[in-house]
Amino acid sequence: MKVAVIGAGTMGRGIAQAFAQCDQIEKVYLCDIKQEFADNGKAMVKKGFDKRIAKGKMAQEDADKILNKIQCGLNEQAVDPDLVVEAALEVMDLKKECFKKLQEEIVKNENCIYASNTSSLSITEIGSGLSKPIIGMHFFNPAPVMKLVEVIAGINTPAETVEKVKEISVMLGKTPVQVEEAPGFVVNRILVPMINEGIQVYSEGIASIEGIDSAMKLGCNHPMGPLELGDYIGLDIVLAIMDVIYKETGDSKYRACTLLRKMVRGKHLGIKSGIGFYDYSNGGKVAVDKK
Ligand code: 3HC
Repeated sequence: MKVAVIGAGTMGRGIAQAFAQCDQIEKVYLCDIKQEFADNGKAMVKKGFDKRIAKGKMAQEDADKILNKIQCGLNEQAVDPDLVVEAALEVMDLKKECFKKLQEEIVKNENCIYASNTSSLSITEIGSGLSKPIIGMHFFNPAPVMKLVEVIAGINTPAETVEKVKEISVMLGKTPVQVEEAPGFVVNRILVPMINEGIQVYSEGIASIEGIDSAMKLGCNHPMGPLELGDYIGLDIVLAIMDVIYKETGDSKYRACTLLRKMVRGKHLGIKSGIGFYDYSNGGKVAVDKK
């Protein structure tokens, strides 16, 4: 089976790695709008492997075998995939345009399944106006590690495609959960408002950044506190998800916190920009007061 992953950012490269690690996958096309973006995605996968090799947790030949399956290039290289997983920016028009081009101009395999890793957008809307149906195949960061795949059917997604994507998820060693189309699906509908609330609690001066994160780690056994998780996901993504849930439901309980919006406007996005609630410069992680 051949898979094309569109977008080599954090999610795209993690998804590409998850597929390439699976024995049944013959090839993974890791695609982006510039060759260097795709190459950089693969380089990040290699960097992760190098760390595991140095710790004696992975053999060099296993890493090479996986990396050799990942072919980097522009979207135009994806001529014969059996499955496309789009992990491009969370912009509706961009996703629609990307699928249109793939379906009408690039992919020659008539039976190809087209999936989006969207974190909250409507699968039905992404698929509207396209000649072939779209399905949601939502991975979680870090994609090679996290066991869940949310499988989301839009109104025009055939039942057999849903079953096939569930089978593929199991083949990857993941557990699929079928979810009805709704803004944020299940996980982000619950998780992202919790992160937003963590930011609100901080804005109100109820506890420090580290205090809030420690409280949720030690009090709820969460692996990361809400503010460090926001930094990890990317605060721009957190804001985009809040805005989609708020817009789609019209419910004021999903209003994004003012501090979150201010930080995104100032490019305090978390790990990806080097600063969020924590400063990550020089490989460190130091809480930075935002008030
Ligand atoms: N890529 C690949 N593998 C990774 C990785 C990455 N980015 N990060 C960690 N790993 C691997 C490590 O190599 C290690 O594997 P090993 O045990 O075989 O060596 C294993 O994961 C554990 O890593 P660490 O020991 O370094 O660190 P932790 O035990 O602290 O775990 C964590 C790290 C898995 C990230 C953990 O902190 C965690 O589960 N955090 C919460 C993550 C979460 O909530 N994700 C969901 C975000 S929401 C989302 O993605 C939806 C989207 O739409 C916004």
